[in-house]
Amino acid sequence: MTAEFDKHAASYDGGLDNPIKRMMGDSADQFIAVKARWLLRREPGLRTGGLAMLDYGCGAGDLMRVLAGMGTKASFTGCDVSAGMLGEVGRRWPKAYGTAPATAVQEGALTPFADGQFDVATISAVLHHVPVEERAAVYAELGRVVKPGGRIYVFEHNPRNPLVRYVIARTPIDENAILLDAREVHEGLLGAARYELETDYLMFMPPGLAFLSPIDRVLAWLPLGAQYAVAARKPA
Ligand SMILES: C[S@@+](CC[C@H](N)C(=O)[O-])C[C@H]1O[C@@H](n2cnc3c(N)ncnc32)[C@H](O)[C@@H]1O
Repeated sequence: MTAEFDKHAASYDGGLDNPIKRMMGDSADQFIAVKARWLLRREPGLRTGGLAMLDYGCGAGDLMRVLAGMGTKASFTGCDVSAGMLGEVGRRWPKAYGTAPATAVQEGALTPFADGQFDVATISAVLHHVPVEERAAVYAELGRVVKPGGRIYVFEHNPRNPLVRYVIARTPIDENAILLDAREVHEGLLGAARYELETDYLMFMPPGLAFLSPIDRVLAWLPLGAQYAVAARKPA
């Protein structure tokens, strides 16, 4: 079965064909790096090794690749409904980073992983592509595959930022996107388990101007950043 993103796989660049997005940063990796730096501050253990991390809806594996480029030593696995996107993971993985992440094609929300297989699960720029009625199953699956005490990190576009809504409405990969705010993520996760939840807002400054990123950290409480990150800790 073909998935929506199969047709984007070979040329996938995170929506950088949008001219406004390109003004904010000149490579998709600059946008991913904002999330990767935030994640490494929350999860310093990813640098030292010994943690198993699943990137759910990993696409071409960009988040794992950028994390690896920052020195992360986690054991990475990626899954996605698009076999085409997963084919890009190995193709784009630099040889210098060692073996590319393990990948698995999934049918719908369910993955082929065991209960509690991962310490950390990330889901970045995926949920707005999942039909609203299927999102509860994704939250439940994320909760199933992380260990007791494991962490789930949801990164999403922030619909409260008007520029984000303008860009998404004009970006081909987002033609079917239905954006969701951080409150919807909280409610969805809490529908699955009694997680401890926290939200930070990200990308107030253009990702291309990394020297301004300290300003992002000061504004993380303000619900107007271009992206947000919800951190969920599963009860031990
Ligand atoms: C915009 S891309 C983001 C890819 C990657 N997470 C990143 O940040 O670069 C969205 C990805 O979500 C995947 N996707 C959509 N619905 C999904 C689902 N129900 N389960 C897993 N992946 C899904 C798509 O196939 C696509 O690869």
